[in-house]
Amino acid sequence: MAKALIVYATRTGESEKIADLIAEGLRLSGVDATVMNVNAVKSEADLTGYDAIALGSATYHGNMLQKMKQLLFMAEKAGLEGRVGAAFGAFGWSGEAPDRIFDTMKNIFKMKMVNGPLRLKSSALGGGIKMAQDYGKEIAEKIGA
Ligand SMILES: Cc1cc2nc3c(=O)[nH]c(=O)nc-3n(C[C@H](O)[C@H](O)[C@H](O)COP(=O)(O)O)c2cc1C
Repeated sequence: MAKALIVYATRTGESEKIADLIAEGLRLSGVDATVMNVNAVKSEADLTGYDAIALGSATYHGNMLQKMKQLLFMAEKAGLEGRVGAAFGAFGWSGEAPDRIFDTMKNIFKMKMVNGPLRLKSSALGGGIKMAQDYGKEIAEKIGA
């Protein structure tokens, strides 16, 4: 069974909800999905052994949360080249974080990225349930699951 890891950074829980929905989409496609808070990732070893990794952060002051920045430096050493990658996050109006994470995974980690990042507005999260589940399915398709 293919395995996927979803790591999220959140302040008020919205990005965690998105992470859980992406995991649901992956599981519906037969992928073993693990969801982790960024605070629980202790070393690059925690990021190895997965066919796909999705990283997410909410946007604050035009940026990703500090813990996700630290995780990206850690992930640089995790040997993720060629693994399937995806990025997501809740936002209010500008939503830069998912784009920055996506670009780092593509250009620095050289991961096999899905079409684009998933950005969901906090006020519209209800309507985003299907979008987030579908994003999980898209990740599963990219793995070939
Ligand atoms: C102080 C503050 C700054 C914020 N800055 C931005 C921003 O620059 N761009 C944006 O799109 N949303 C911004 N937001 C909105 C958050 O991204 C939004 O509330 C999001 O749903 C929070 O997700 P979380 O629950 O995962 O932390 C900001 C919110 C607060 C409270």
